[in-house]
Parts: sequence; C-alpha cells; structure tokens
Amino acid sequence: MLKEVSATRYISPLREGGSLPGLVEADDLGMYVMKFSGAGQGRKTLIAEVVCGELARRLGLRVPGLVTIGLDPVIGLGEPDQEVQELLKSSGGLNFGMDFLSRAIGFDALAHRVSPEEAGKIVWFDALVNNVDRSWRNPNMLVRQGDLWLIDHGATMIWHHNWPGAQASAARPYDASDHALAPFGPDVDSAAAELAPLVTEELLAEVTAEIPEPWLADEPGFDSADELRRAYVRPLLARAATIHERIELSEISEIHQTREIQGTREIREEGAE
Ligand SMILES: Nc1ncnc2c1ncn2[C@@H]1O[C@H](COP(=O)(O)OP(=O)(O)OP(=O)(O)O)[C@@H](O)[C@H]1O
Ligand SMILES: [Mg+2]
Repeated sequence: MLKEVSATRYISPLREGGSLPGLVEADDLGMYVMKFSGAGQGRKTLIAEVVCGELARRLGLRVPGLVTIGLDPVIGLGEPDQEVQELLKSSGGLNFGMDFLSRAIGFDALAHRVSPEEAGKIVWFDALVNNVDRSWRNPNMLVRQGDLWLIDHGATMIWHHNWPGAQASAARPYDASDHALAPFGPDVDSAAAELAPLVTEELLAEVTAEIPEPWLADEPGFDSADELRRAYVRPLLARAATIHERIELSEISEIHQTREIQGTREIREEGAE
C-alpha cells in the first residue's frame, strides 16, 4: 500500500501546473506535491499517477515517492486565494501526493544530455502507457544532481476514459515525434527487450492494487473495484508485448534543429573572439 499521510499545512500553489497542484506539509513533516481529488480533471488523473508512477518505478525508472494525502478541508479556510480555497473545500478525503524534490530543476533538452539507453527506456515506457504529456513543450521531467526524474503521469492511459473502446484504443500506435527525448536517439528496441518481459500480469496486479479503493467506486459498467483494477491490467499487458513496433519517431525533431542552430551560433561566436 502507498504510504498514507495527512496534510497539516497548505504552503503554496505550483502555478505552472494546469491542474493547480499545491505544495503541502504533512503530519510526517514531509513536503509533498499534492494533486486534488476535487480538481477539474477528476479522480482518473490520480489513478493514472499511481498506476504509471508505480509501474515506472518497478521498471527501474526514477519517480519520486508516492503517497496518499488525507485532507481535512478546514486547512483551506484561511487561504486567501478563492480558487485554491474552492479546491481544498472540494477535496476532502484521499488525495494524491508525491515527494517534493527540493533543488530539482525542470528538464531542458538544450541544457541536459540523456543517453540513448535511458531515453529509449523512457520513450518505451511512455509508449506503453500512452503518455501524451512528455513533449519538448512540457517535458514533465526534473533533473537533480544530473539524474532525471519522471513526474506527472496524469495524462496517460487514455483508454480509461472510455472502457468499452479500451481494447481498440490500446491497439493504436504511439506518436513520439514530439517527445522531449526524441532528439537523443532513444534506443527503444533495447528498452523493449529489457523491459517488456518485466511487465507481467503479476506486476500489473501489484501496481493496480495500489490504487486507493475510493477512487475506483461507482465506475459505470463495473461491479467491483477489483474488476476495475483488472481492466487497468489488460491494455497494459497487451501493449507491452508489441508497442515498440508502433512507436513513431521522426528523424529530426524541432529541438534537434534548435540545438543545431545554437551550435552553429556558438561556433560562430568562438570564431569571432
Ligand atoms: N515531485 C516534485 N518535486 C518538485 N517539483 C515538482 C514535483 N512535481 C511537480 N513539480 C513542479 O510542479 C509543476 C507542476 O507539476 P505537474 O506537472 O505534476 O502538474 P500538472 O498540473 O499536471 O501540470 P501540467 O498539466 O501543466 O503538465 C512541475 O512542472 C514542476 O515544476
Ligand atoms: Mg506537468
């Protein structure tokens, strides 16, 4: 089970996040990035965070620790920002939290280097879960002491928004041409050879068991939380076997071009000195 903590203090909003995540302190004195059950995106975003975050971790990728955060809406009463106050009021109960990585900076393809091996693993993983939110515009990766950390898995597994069409949706290819790591020559074949055999039914059962029960309640077409957990397993299991054959990567991405332009400029400047 994910560690459970209770929010004791709302510190500040993380303004760049579209879902208005907030920085909170909890009763274990830890600081967490909290995503609210009452946010517009709904509970499925939180389920996606848990399933994909825990799956990535088990595949050896770096993901900050995940927790559930109990919230008593009372802590929002003194919050001056109306929007934040509304969010806190509507998010009583269990929310999603992630260890706050202090001193981490946002990944920048022009400033950081990633090996084809690591890029391959991340692109393959994103293809597996159909992550549409790791583009060069919004990389959703952090860098700390040279290490790359994956965050923000809310926009994955699009099939869970329409269960009757899930199988067909999960059979679709993955367009990685805009992926933040596309310029690093991701070796997706080696990644698939190493990681796909790890994505077993047992592993996926373990990961989906981490989804807090209240987020699974009352899903139309499902009689129990466990039935819904199994529905999360199926598309991922099917996709793991063959998705590497359906990853679309363009030869030269826009960032690559930017880097080349920048490189040319640097060479010119050196020449002018
Ligand atoms: N674990 C973390 N440690 C440190 N900073 C973080 C962490 N998680 C998120 N952040 C910061 O908060 C920002 C917003 O977080 P996140 O991307 O998860 O939210 P979001 O609302 O889903 O964002 P969006 O939809 O805009 O991509 C990140 O870009 C990052 O700067
Ligand atoms: Mg984000």
